[in-house]
Amino acid sequence: MDKFAVVLAAGQGTRMKSDLYKVLHPVCGKAMVQHVIDAVSAIDITQVVTVVGHGADSVKSVLGTKSNFVFQDAQLGTAHAVMKAEPLLSGKPGTTVVLCGDTPLIKVSTLENLLAVHMSNNASATVLTAIAPDPTGYGRIIRDTDGHVTKIVEHKDCDEGQLRVREFNTGIFCFDNQLLFETLKKVGNQNTQNEFYLTDVIEILQQENKTVTAFCTPDFDETLGVNDRVQLAQAERIMQCRINEQHMRNGVTITDPAATYIHANVVIGRDSLIRPGSVITGTTAIGENCIIGPNSEIHNCQIGNSVTIRQSTTFDSTIAHEAQVGPFAHIRPTSELGRGVKIGNFVEVKKATIDTNSKVSHLSYIGDAKIGRDVNIGCGTITVNYDGKSKFQTTIEDGSFVGCNANLIAPVVIGKNAIIAAGSTITSDVPADSLSIARARQVDKLGYAKKRK
Ligand code: UD1
Ligand code: CA
Repeated sequence: MDKFAVVLAAGQGTRMKSDLYKVLHPVCGKAMVQHVIDAVSAIDITQVVTVVGHGADSVKSVLGTKSNFVFQDAQLGTAHAVMKAEPLLSGKPGTTVVLCGDTPLIKVSTLENLLAVHMSNNASATVLTAIAPDPTGYGRIIRDTDGHVTKIVEHKDCDEGQLRVREFNTGIFCFDNQLLFETLKKVGNQNTQNEFYLTDVIEILQQENKTVTAFCTPDFDETLGVNDRVQLAQAERIMQCRINEQHMRNGVTITDPAATYIHANVVIGRDSLIRPGSVITGTTAIGENCIIGPNSEIHNCQIGNSVTIRQSTTFDSTIAHEAQVGPFAHIRPTSELGRGVKIGNFVEVKKATIDTNSKVSHLSYIGDAKIGRDVNIGCGTITVNYDGKSKFQTTIEDGSFVGCNANLIAPVVIGKNAIIAAGSTITSDVPADSLSIARARQVDKLGYAKKRK
């Protein structure tokens, strides 16, 4: 039996008060609708159809080939939205799972359980429900005295008795596909919001004596629908808990999970230690036995094994095995730190390659540079890469020793095993194996200080 999915993602998300379309708001670095598509795709779906409207092009470009798309020009309600999938799905035998793009926490296992209930009851429709401590805003599940679901009433259409019902519609359903599209045609818009409600399909099917069932998930959290920024923060916290738990179960130590922020696509190897205040985002991959934090921000970085990054920020860079960064270092995009490289406090590295075992231990700026292996850069050294108009390259070859407080005025090449005297301002290339001193000579005026007193 084929399985289809329809994901509703056409709304503007007025309550978000945002220029970004609601379903594109990220939860742990991944768009809400992407979470939904990833979850539903894991249950072996033949065809996923996403209904787009507001921000259609942005939603399409985020989801790419993971979904087919249909366009809902005016947002006349959730039934109207599902109806847009008719040209792609109607008439096909099978089961259709309908989900909303704003429920990012839904778990694969729950979708599997929902499907199982739907199949075992041979149902026409099965709604996923949950019990909310405070169901304000959600559609309520109305059952008859035998406990059968008779209808779903939107919050705004509820009478006083219905408002007291705490079982609510999560917005996730399974339907017999053919019956769904036949029934959608019968849905009207006589309600407070004058919208075509998908939820009305339940009442219609029930009145036609079709089998309508419900599966109530015990986990209220995963059904959270995000309509505003408060709910967005709730979703972020719940998702973060899950992600951290997953890493811990995979052998990563997280000292304080409540103070550790790791995005959905991050990979971390076993026996790595993530200390509090760390924010690890994007496509970062961290190897084994690393120590990250406290208070490090790492974005889109590829990090080897046994790397230490303390109180530092690193972006779009590669850091090889056994490198040490920080405390208080800033590694800017497209930098490459080789094996065993040491970057110490108050060092900024930008668009630079630093090869095996080289050290930049304190207070330096290394930008637009290529540094060989076993190079030592003394405290306070600057690659002078910018003349106010253009950027220039500094090359420092293997084994060189740059003394403290040197200015290397680019473009410039420091040859192999060269030595630069402390305080030098180097303006032309330094030959290999030589010593360059480029500073004023010291003058001592004997007795001068004493006379002044
Ligand atoms: C909906 C349900 C409600 C349920 C809640 C769960 C209906 C009528 N109500 O309410 O019973 O408790 O979800 O979170 O179904 N959308 C479209 N096109 C439209 C309208 C909506 O694509 O014309 C999309 C939205 O982008 C959103 C989803 O459908 O992703 C749900 O719409 P929303 O307005 O958030 O519905 P709720 O009021 O939350
Ligand atoms: Ca919603």
